[in-house]
Amino acid sequence: MSDSLTVTDNRTGKHYEFPIKDSTIDATDLRKIKVSDDDFGLMSFDPGLKNTAVCRSAITFIDGEKGILRYRGYPIEELASKSSFLEVSFLLLNGELPSKTELDGWTSEITLHTMLNENIKKLMDAFHYDAHPMGMLISTIAALSSFYPESKNIFDPEVRRKQIVRLIAKMPTIAAFALKHSRGLPYVYPDNELNYTENFLNMVYRPSHGTQYKPDPILAKALDTLFILHADHEQNCSTNAMRAVGSAQSDPYSCAAAAAAALYGPLHGGANEQVLRMLREIGTKEKIPQLIQQVKEGKRKLMGFGHRVYKNFDPRGKIIKNIAEDVFQVTGRNPLIDVALELERIALEDDYFISRKLYPNVDFYSGIIYEAMGFPTSMFPVLFAVGRMPGWLAQWQEMVTDDEQKLVRPRQIYTGHQKRTI
Ligand code: ACO
Repeated sequence: MSDSLTVTDNRTGKHYEFPIKDSTIDATDLRKIKVSDDDFGLMSFDPGLKNTAVCRSAITFIDGEKGILRYRGYPIEELASKSSFLEVSFLLLNGELPSKTELDGWTSEITLHTMLNENIKKLMDAFHYDAHPMGMLISTIAALSSFYPESKNIFDPEVRRKQIVRLIAKMPTIAAFALKHSRGLPYVYPDNELNYTENFLNMVYRPSHGTQYKPDPILAKALDTLFILHADHEQNCSTNAMRAVGSAQSDPYSCAAAAAAALYGPLHGGANEQVLRMLREIGTKEKIPQLIQQVKEGKRKLMGFGHRVYKNFDPRGKIIKNIAEDVFQVTGRNPLIDVALELERIALEDDYFISRKLYPNVDFYSGIIYEAMGFPTSMFPVLFAVGRMPGWLAQWQEMVTDDEQKLVRPRQIYTGHQKRTI
């Protein structure tokens, strides 16, 4: 038995043999299949890149059938219970969990870069009072490239590292400023005495400088764990945007702004916002059958259900359910959780969802927790983006240092007019 694929082109009767490596054929081999010398050659048609590997990656492993998610080999369940978000960020970027000394160094580096240039603050001020915080986040991340022009030198490892630190450090500050802006409240500057997530909560909830606020340790831990769960998810839509823009050798701020823009969409990171709107619209358990009926008639989607990769369960969803219980002990029970639980129960017994392998994904429960913590719905995708930043950066770094990578430039099947004259 050889590791190859033999293809017969029934148009010509010719046989071709292509090597198989890592259960994959090289897509450009297909171009050798031609009906004539001037034929362009065979292509594969794959909208949504459903069956196309675009890179080799050593960062995140997912087995969608078995519901397995691992970062650098460590199961997500273990990382969620034993590590902090900054440890996980270090792991994603460097391949190993940090030693105590490495973690101290990493934490202090991140802490030193949490401040935003005052001109960035002015830029954020310019947004309308009701601007969506995700729009503010995307624009502000993009604007950072003009503050750090050296970031263009993407092949210099030290320059890369500096921008990675800046982006992870500044995300909570940008996110908190966006929220404060929408509420017309003064910005609260980073407090270097607090850890990453406590500092974020402090910037969000402390009314202003000089006033008192102490982040609740249970809420801080819960949010930190949510960030871990969102930290990477291999070649998802936003990571693909990060890599695609990065393949043009753009600076990491421009790439990250593109990734955040992809995340904003309701089919991706914007789903958590849509789940909450849907649960509020349902309101009471009695209205669930009506919603299920609309979904089955194809009139709408059950937001927070279904996943391109997970076809059994989303392991993050299981962990999030437990976090919800911890959070509710502090905040009181969010009544929407009961609607969500009942919706999940009914959906998982229904053949429509069973036959299509549709299960709750990470976004089904995360929004309920964020809401219980006091975040407005519009902030949900922003919180997702804060958590996902280390993953985007790890994937971008891997791509920049991968000799196999090329400018992303897909093909098309042209369906327009042949040459015509006016
Ligand atoms: N509600 C109802 N039906 C659904 C749903 C849903 N949430 N998701 C998929 N389906 C149906 C489709 O209509 C299709 O049915 P059909 O075979 O009768 O046409 C079938 O299930 C297969 O769905 P596809 O759209 O082909 O699956 P795909 O892998 O392209 O979609 C996606 C994955 C986009 C996540 C989809 O399940 C969806 O839109 N879910 C709702 C949005 C959501 O929760 N997104 C968050 C994803 S997780 C993340 O990004 C963090």
